[in-house]
Amino acid sequence: MSISGTQSYAGADVPELVTAAVNLAVELGFTSSCRLEQGRLLTALASGATNVIGETGTGCGVGLAWLVCGRRPGVRIVSIERDAERADRVRRLFADIPDVEVLTGDWTLVTEQAPYDLLVLDGGGSLTDDSGIDPSLLVHPGGTVVNDDFTPITQWPPVHDGAVDAERLAWLTHPGLLATEIRVAPDLSTIVATRRP
Ligand SMILES: C[S@@+](CC[C@H](N)C(=O)[O-])C[C@H]1O[C@@H](n2cnc3c(N)ncnc32)[C@H](O)[C@@H]1O
Repeated sequence: MSISGTQSYAGADVPELVTAAVNLAVELGFTSSCRLEQGRLLTALASGATNVIGETGTGCGVGLAWLVCGRRPGVRIVSIERDAERADRVRRLFADIPDVEVLTGDWTLVTEQAPYDLLVLDGGGSLTDDSGIDPSLLVHPGGTVVNDDFTPITQWPPVHDGAVDAERLAWLTHPGLLATEIRVAPDLSTIVATRRP
């Protein structure tokens, strides 16, 4: 988790919508927004989507704002947040922006509008949880799943807190995916995985 995500925007020159979402996060005392570096990656990836983008874990809408900034006109975005207050405030913040839907509930709601061109997992959605859902099957063949907030890999297999990082290993070795880790900052990396045709 990028605990300092919200604070990373202090003094940064970012799109107005991103600033509005960061301000909401500050107001609500929410520290776990996606970092600026991750946001720029999301904008770039969103620009490749042609139909629908999904996000689990809306938070205060910072990543969602970056996705909106990158998407092409007409591409829909659905984002899911289990915290009712956050979901409601983000819904209001994005109320005038077309083709954005913020749902309140568990991440598994994301299955209802699958398949996606791009699926950002930032609050629920894992290969090692007990949901029985493989999130990689929620994107089209050729679609992309993004998982952020990793510490950059320094050894194989990846290790976290002294033990093999089973989640990261599962993404990087998933037979249905072509996956890699992108270091977006010296201390922050993201897994970007494309579903094999
Ligand atoms: C890291 S923050 C999300 C940051 C946000 N995506 C951004 O870019 O600023 C994680 C969010 O996921 C939500 N969350 C955690 N588990 C969830 C679940 N199972 N279903 C839906 N939302 C969840 C948390 O309430 C929190 O708001």
